[in-house]
Amino acid sequence: MTRIIIAAMGANGVIGRGEGMPWHVPEEYEQYIRWVSGQTVIMGRRSWDIFGRDLTTTENIVVSHSGRVTGALVVPSLELALARAAGTGRTVFIAGGASVYTQALASDWVDEMYLSIIHGDHTGDSYFPEWDQAGWDVKRREAHARYELTIWQRRR
Ligand SMILES: NC(=O)c1ccc[n+]([C@@H]2O[C@H](COP(=O)([O-])OP(=O)(O)OC[C@H]3O[C@@H](n4cnc5c(N)ncnc54)[C@H](OP(=O)(O)O)[C@@H]3O)[C@@H](O)[C@H]2O)c1
Repeated sequence: MTRIIIAAMGANGVIGRGEGMPWHVPEEYEQYIRWVSGQTVIMGRRSWDIFGRDLTTTENIVVSHSGRVTGALVVPSLELALARAAGTGRTVFIAGGASVYTQALASDWVDEMYLSIIHGDHTGDSYFPEWDQAGWDVKRREAHARYELTIWQRRR
């Protein structure tokens, strides 16, 4: 089971503003939907409230203590989410938000990261956590008109 963090961010690490993202780059979002389609997505309850309506072709697991979630399997921890995702043969995408990225990066669970850096200056109120590039290798880099994608692979 490959476990992948997937995120889009500004060069300053910003990932969100209010109930959405600070930019409008639909081609990047469409790329995200293509990748996760047919796979398993794990996300925090707040991100599910924002993005869940677009995740119609995925197995969705939402972490929440409150349980205020409809349309997805709800579990009370990231460990349980990963345990539920195991054994399905699907790739597991950990898709935010900030609190879930932080927990995933603090663990040894993640194999790869698909990170899109959106061009331009962006401001917001949620940020991708600080992480140490020394533990990761670049597997692929792709330049797009409005963003750059880097696929990072954990050095084992
Ligand atoms: N740019 C991107 O790629 C991207 C992707 C996703 C999200 N985002 C952005 O990220 C922001 C949201 O991030 P966030 O950190 O505020 O919220 P979040 O991580 O999406 O969700 C937080 C909620 O998840 C639940 N949760 C988190 N960890 C848990 C755990 N270990 N066990 C049980 N429940 C847990 C809790 O739900 P309950 O309150 O229900 O208990 C918590 O309030 C938004 O701005 C969104 O737009 C950006």
